[in-house]
Amino acid sequence: MRILQVCAEIFPLLKTGGLADVAGALPPALRALGGEPRVLLPGFPAILDALEHARELARLHAPGAMAAIDARLLLGRLPACDVDAYVIDAPACYRRSGGPYADPQHHAYADNHLRFGLLGWTAAALGRGLDPDWRPQCVHAHDWHAALAPAYLRAAGEAGEPGLPGSVYTVHNLAYQGLFDAACFAELGLPAHFYAMHGLEFHGQLSYMKAGLYYADRITTVSPTYAREIQGPEQGCGLDGLLRERAHELHGILNGVDDAVWNPATDALLPARYDAARLAGKARCRKALRTELGLADAADGPLFCVVSRLTEQKGLHLVLHNLPAIVGGGGQFALLGSGDATLEAAFREAAAAQPQAVAVRLGYDENFAHRLIAGSDVILVPSRFEPCGLTQLYGLKYGTLPLVRRVGGLADTVADARLETLDTDATGFVFDEFSPAALQRAIERAGALFRRSADWKTVQRRAMTQNVGWRRAAEAYLALYRGLPAPRAGAAAGSATN
Ligand code: ADP
Ligand code: GLC
Repeated sequence: MRILQVCAEIFPLLKTGGLADVAGALPPALRALGGEPRVLLPGFPAILDALEHARELARLHAPGAMAAIDARLLLGRLPACDVDAYVIDAPACYRRSGGPYADPQHHAYADNHLRFGLLGWTAAALGRGLDPDWRPQCVHAHDWHAALAPAYLRAAGEAGEPGLPGSVYTVHNLAYQGLFDAACFAELGLPAHFYAMHGLEFHGQLSYMKAGLYYADRITTVSPTYAREIQGPEQGCGLDGLLRERAHELHGILNGVDDAVWNPATDALLPARYDAARLAGKARCRKALRTELGLADAADGPLFCVVSRLTEQKGLHLVLHNLPAIVGGGGQFALLGSGDATLEAAFREAAAAQPQAVAVRLGYDENFAHRLIAGSDVILVPSRFEPCGLTQLYGLKYGTLPLVRRVGGLADTVADARLETLDTDATGFVFDEFSPAALQRAIERAGALFRRSADWKTVQRRAMTQNVGWRRAAEAYLALYRGLPAPRAGAAAGSATN
């Protein structure tokens, strides 16, 4: 089955969060099951630079205000991602200093609706047969950046075009919606009636997220619990009504971990390798980490870590509150993260005050993330909300017990260690209430188990042998693609450039 994955970032070339990890891991996992995936990406410099054997397939003539964009579609191979890729080469849109979504001052680019409108339109054009040699049977769009793809496909369907593929839209985070001024709608060349409550309009604004949620044949999100949570007002971000209406077409499919990237038995980024049967390497990783961070070489309690974007979502002020509890309990703490300036400053101050027990590294560092997770005993993920979360899964694989809040994908992937679960299914620590006190109790429970080293090892070994690979998720996606409505029959589709 030919599947076009449409996304704005992909590991290891361009990553701002877990979306890139998923975009990088899913195509090989689909291929291992007989699927034929390709990806469509905007031509950001990191993507274009890595594209090999690139050839021009077409010049793109998008409608509306996008008609003024000089853009061509390339087809080539991204060896770093082991996937064939369509890339939109539109230098005026994608060759900019700054990140993929915002300028160096973190202001969203003013023309994001066009930059990502072009991505959605091009995905639909491929679905309509733009590449005569490879027409996808399914267009799978990820997050708001790609969410116009199902809308453009629907528009083509309403115009009577035959042979269109089915569409799947995956929500990685409902909180980032791609909202634009209503006036932007006229620049997209979509039928006028699409700007309606039953369509792209959201409280007087244009919502790309809603385009995906409304027009895709199937909606998925990245865990079963989050799929339920977003149907309620608390986590529905104003879209819960629409999600409830489409509940029978909404599926929660848990992300996995890419074993080629995150596996302590083969991880070349670590000072020593280890697995569930040979944990000595983990002790070496811990020792090396302490030296690297200037932490005291011995401690009575666990070494707790965080690897995270520093945003409201991640609940890290609860951790800040609890640094005295961690250190008071004989433990240590190390953080790798970047984001909110106030949180950055507060963590930096905490490290300066107790350099032997608290270490903070601000910034983004993929290699250090591996060393930090491998060398720690517990990874903290106290999120306010969490669609799936990947770092707790890395924690499981690396025997770094996750301590998480019972929300979203965290609730689906970590089983709390209690007396009655120690010998059955415990893999970490779970707390409920979003408060410093509730986190503190969980931290104390982790400290208590850590001092019972035989029990700790039992839980650690179980965590490390959980099945968190991509196969299960890839099977679920393939089943979903196969169940899509069959394309409407008609004359053979010609090339579609408009
Ligand atoms: P989200 O996508 O909401 O940020 P996830 O847990 O799904 O959360 O994914 C985050 C990804 O980004 C993980 O691969 C994590 O290791 C990585 N990451 C987050 N912050 C950093 C950082 N400062 N340095 C290196 N990697 C980071
Ligand atoms: C989003 C979510 C995170 C999820 C990731 C990949 O960034 O915040 O929970 O793991 O997407 O699906």
